[in-house]
Amino acid sequence: MKEIYLAGGCFWGVEHFFKGVDGVSEAVSGYANGNTENPSYQEVYTDTTGFAETVRVVYDPEKVSLRTLLDLFFMIIDPLSLNRQGEDAGTRYRTGVYYLEPTDRAIIEEAFAKVEKRLGQKIVTELEPLRNFYPAEDYHQEYLDKNPGGYCHLPLRAFKYLRLWQDIALFLADEEDEVARMADISALIASRMGFFWTGFYRVIGEQLVLGPFQGEAACLRIGYGRGVCGTAWKERRTIVVPDVEQFPGHIACSSLSRSEIVVPVFDSNQNVTAVLDIDSDRLAEFDSTDAAWLELIVGLV
Ligand code: SME
Repeated sequence: MKEIYLAGGCFWGVEHFFKGVDGVSEAVSGYANGNTENPSYQEVYTDTTGFAETVRVVYDPEKVSLRTLLDLFFMIIDPLSLNRQGEDAGTRYRTGVYYLEPTDRAIIEEAFAKVEKRLGQKIVTELEPLRNFYPAEDYHQEYLDKNPGGYCHLPLRAFKYLRLWQDIALFLADEEDEVARMADISALIASRMGFFWTGFYRVIGEQLVLGPFQGEAACLRIGYGRGVCGTAWKERRTIVVPDVEQFPGHIACSSLSRSEIVVPVFDSNQNVTAVLDIDSDRLAEFDSTDAAWLELIVGLV
């Protein structure tokens, strides 16, 4: 078993999230890297002790890697926000990754660099050795299990996506055929998330050709650079369209579609082999959080 200490704002939600990660055996809410001993919640709350609300994550490295834990951590925090996450402000709500083993540092630095590259700017999340950690009072442990509906700064969608991503990985574990994988991925996304059209277009020659999907009959072929799908293929990046009527060249397969997200699928040589297209009947259904989770999910294709 290994440990990593993650500060991501209010520990109630962060602990609950990491308890749901396969391979994590323990998630404990506590206070890390402060300047006193055995602080109480009230003391930490004054914001003068230097402690950050932090979750000790104990994991089996055979089942889940530190890299994956960090990918997941960055899904649920805003690493550009200094001393504020969700509704909570103060240095006790700063974000940070605190490690025990010096050999973990390089992996954490790599994860930070990856996020900075994606965001195009420096992040404010701390990267430090763990100096101290005190578990929080009992009533803070498993808080959201004891108080369903209690305050949680993480969006409900984070918990849904986590379960979805893990279930897809389990489902597909032994299947090599790409079309079969796409079929179950689209079925699982559609049934769990409730989007009205979820499916893949595969790159075949100069066109995208309709692949496995859930929803109504759709356009069969889309040209390179055409519509949202062809643009995502050409520009090799995820495209979020909050209002399809504002996207020049949008191809309306269904009049129900109000907003859309298209995520390219890359092979090991970084060629685009397909795109995942999801349509919603609500405006502005998708944001950068959906983009990040769906990019993680298409990594399973
Ligand atoms: N709207 C897409 C076409 C595919 S359908 O949404 C299923 C586009 O503009 O590329």
